[in-house]
Amino acid sequence: MARPKVFVARKLPAVALDAIRAACDADVWPEQLPPSADELKRRVADCDGLVSLLTDRVDAALLDAAPKLKVVSNFAVGFNNVDVAACTARGVCVGNTPGVLTDATADIAVTLLLAAARAIRSGIDDARGGKWLTWEPLGWMGQDLAGRTLGIVGMGRIGYATAKRLHHGWGMKVLYTARGPKPDADRDLGATRVELDELLARSDFVSVHADLNPTTKGLFGADKFGQMKPTAVFVNTSRGPLVDQTALAAALRDGTIFAAGLDVTDPEPLPTSHELYALPNCVIVPHIASATPDTRNAMARLCANNLLAGVKGEALPNWVNPEAGDKRRA
Ligand code: GLV
Repeated sequence: MARPKVFVARKLPAVALDAIRAACDADVWPEQLPPSADELKRRVADCDGLVSLLTDRVDAALLDAAPKLKVVSNFAVGFNNVDVAACTARGVCVGNTPGVLTDATADIAVTLLLAAARAIRSGIDDARGGKWLTWEPLGWMGQDLAGRTLGIVGMGRIGYATAKRLHHGWGMKVLYTARGPKPDADRDLGATRVELDELLARSDFVSVHADLNPTTKGLFGADKFGQMKPTAVFVNTSRGPLVDQTALAAALRDGTIFAAGLDVTDPEPLPTSHELYALPNCVIVPHIASATPDTRNAMARLCANNLLAGVKGEALPNWVNPEAGDKRRA
């Protein structure tokens, strides 16, 4: 039987590429930057499988250009770059990589929260820039963490792991929003599920972990920042488009909120001319939440296993759309 043909849209950790190459004829995109939409279309035209990244748009036009495609294995837990309904309608399986990046992502949420709360960005800038003239009784003031209230927007795996760190480490009280009750969070972290308005009004720290979908796009605009405390710190490690960045910049500039820490922006990369970079109370890192060797290797293994299961017609270990199973392409 012919070996399956697959396109891998970027160089991945060897643990994935070795497994994929052992079972498939793999075309691996060699560049640092993603393939263009047209190039992606050309490359998948005769493929059975695709490894996509969050920078690769997988939509109906791409799927229609790839009549043999059986599986899209996304190298990410988030899959807002994939039109899952279009995949399901065409019998194309979609896989993602949840679970294995939970701790690394929660670590970055806490890192950003601490950095933003304690004015680390202006401290570094001022130390390097010759503005550190003496020990200042009133300089570089931040916010305390101990015993404060944390608001988790989206109490999934990563929200829980973030809350666990801050509850057990700093004794924070935890409020959260979620589509349904989260008995584990209530029991283990003394957490309370509330409406978003109440969370914003009561929280000293707001950390966003909701997925990007039509109901969460633009969720954080001027009205939401206006509901937060002037001492509030806002952290986003989910997806950039949940936030209206113009409104966030205004809220940071005029003191509506105290500071922000962002692992994700819209677009990515955020152009260096963007006003958020000029604000000393905004810490921005380039979408690095899962960037540790162990985490990326674990993602790579899962991603390869999803791909290989998909090309073989087996159940994907992490299958976003099992309902596609009935219509799978032969
Ligand atoms: C990263 O943002 C991911 O979704 O894995």
